[in-house]
Amino acid sequence: MSIIYGKLWQFTDYIKPMDFTIHQYLLASEPSILLAAGTVQEAERNIPEIKRILGNKSLSYIFISHMETDEAGGVFLLQKEYPDVCVICGNLSARELYGWGYSGEIKTVKGGECLNDGELSLRFINYPSEVHLQDGLLCFEENSGVLYSSDLMMSFGDAGGKIIESEWKPQGISEDRLPAGRLEILRSSLGGIIPEFVAVGHGFCIKIR
Ligand SMILES: [Fe+2]
Ligand SMILES: [Fe+2]
Repeated sequence: MSIIYGKLWQFTDYIKPMDFTIHQYLLASEPSILLAAGTVQEAERNIPEIKRILGNKSLSYIFISHMETDEAGGVFLLQKEYPDVCVICGNLSARELYGWGYSGEIKTVKGGECLNDGELSLRFINYPSEVHLQDGLLCFEENSGVLYSSDLMMSFGDAGGKIIESEWKPQGISEDRLPAGRLEILRSSLGGIIPEFVAVGHGFCIKIR
């Protein structure tokens, strides 16, 4: 766990046989937000670190892009530690959260919507996510310039704490995993934002030139 950009902390698992990383992020703003709950094991590991970083402040939000174990698995453990936490997610994920043991507050949002609270100015982008290209979300925090890209823009390699530099190229998003119509919508939504830093769910984070 280390600061990777501004007030953004990165928590990483490296799966050596796959040469693959899984990241969660804590934006230690006021209020704070965790970008991905992580798996049960990752949440168990992260909670003491989150407590250390936030001190006597509470974790305010958890953003869940879509319902997979690396995004949502440990959400019930985080609720146990922070009973007043609020999960921000789409409608589909909200329906499934109870099945993952979460019974706390939920704020459902759609692509194009914004949520402003203190230092957070969150903007949401519809994202056809794994598995089965369902209705997931990406999250852009306008004040820090951080885009949490979940499973999009991911890469292989031992990428914990590592950053590459690149131009912002939403048009370059690969065509191999999304049907053309939905890809165009995603590219055009991403074209409407100007991130400074892409916090990826897997692989190398991207500092935008
Ligand atoms: Fe995923
Ligand atoms: Fe993921």
